[in-house]
Amino acid sequence: MNRAAVVSGLGTWLPPGVVTNDDLARELDTDDAWIRSRTGIGRRHIADPGTATSDLAVEAGRRALKSASVESVDAVILATTTPDQLCPATAPQVADRLGLGPVAAFDLSAVCTGFLYALGTAAGLIAARTAERVLVIGADTYSRILDPADRSTRAIFGDGAGAVVLRAGGAEEPGALGPLDLASDGGGAELIGIASGGSRSPFRADTLDRADPYFRMEGPTVFRQAVERMAHSTRTVVQRSGWQLPDVDVLVAHQANLRILHAVADQLHLERDRCAVHLDRVGNTAAASIPLALADAASSGLLRPGHRVVLTAFGGGLTWGACALRWPDVTAL
Ligand code: UT7
Repeated sequence: MNRAAVVSGLGTWLPPGVVTNDDLARELDTDDAWIRSRTGIGRRHIADPGTATSDLAVEAGRRALKSASVESVDAVILATTTPDQLCPATAPQVADRLGLGPVAAFDLSAVCTGFLYALGTAAGLIAARTAERVLVIGADTYSRILDPADRSTRAIFGDGAGAVVLRAGGAEEPGALGPLDLASDGGGAELIGIASGGSRSPFRADTLDRADPYFRMEGPTVFRQAVERMAHSTRTVVQRSGWQLPDVDVLVAHQANLRILHAVADQLHLERDRCAVHLDRVGNTAAASIPLALADAASSGLLRPGHRVVLTAFGGGLTWGACALRWPDVTAL
């Protein structure tokens, strides 16, 4: 039996506060009709000021452990671009608060592709027999890094968390992670990011007036790249799986914009209704987007045990990737 990493639990968490498009329109020069027609987004969840990324990650992690009926794992990987603080990593605190003991725990930074990179890393730990079970969490609190005056990013992003438990199992089992494609292009680093606060441009008293602490994105360029890269990565893992594109029952693509999801489906000649769509209610939740969309698709019945599913994402870095698997019989909590 070929050893593989198998999805055995899925949990999600959204902070309770909801911001609608009409709420945004009261603060910014925007309106519900523009946001819905250009992005497909109707509302998003926003964490209250006392809630940090670790708080969302702990809730999603707890639910994933319960969904997998386990109380221990050998490692925790937290994909996030909005850690509680720059140093130390947030994952050890999450592991501690989940009562997981002195397990390996680290953050992984690949922006909106973070969850896929974390799945690949966890699968590697399992393949190397460093771990039998890994908790993989994607959690982000983008509301903390958006420019309050930037209507294009505030219309899109929301806060949230999602997590899966991966266990060692056999490659033929439902839930076994199949081919995984991960890629990057640092030449496009300036298209998505935060200019200040790192080692190149640290926050210091004498430079603060010139610092830009906010997340910036070149929307239209990113849009075009996202479509091309996710379609290409999806093709790659479908081919490596020995499937044909029409075999894909559900495409769970990073939830950035409904027009991107439809363009990816169109490029792949897949019916648009095979795309998981969750962004209308949560917006773009960055590293949490894929597990949140998976849980929503599973609870709506779009995604059922045995289905062939492709996960694909694109984000800052630039980074992108895809993973193919057969959906297991897990209950999302
Ligand atoms: O998660 C990582 C990956 N991220 C993505 O994949 C996001 C990809 N990009 C997008 O989803 C879209 O580019 C956006 C939704 C961000 C923007 O939509 P767009 O159709 O590409 O608009 P645009 O940036 O080309 O801007 C068109 C116009 C501009 O006005 P002018 O300069 O033509 O007068 C913007 O200022 O739309 C304006 N605009 C808005 N108007 C009303 C931008 N955001 C808004 C808004 N409300 N919220």
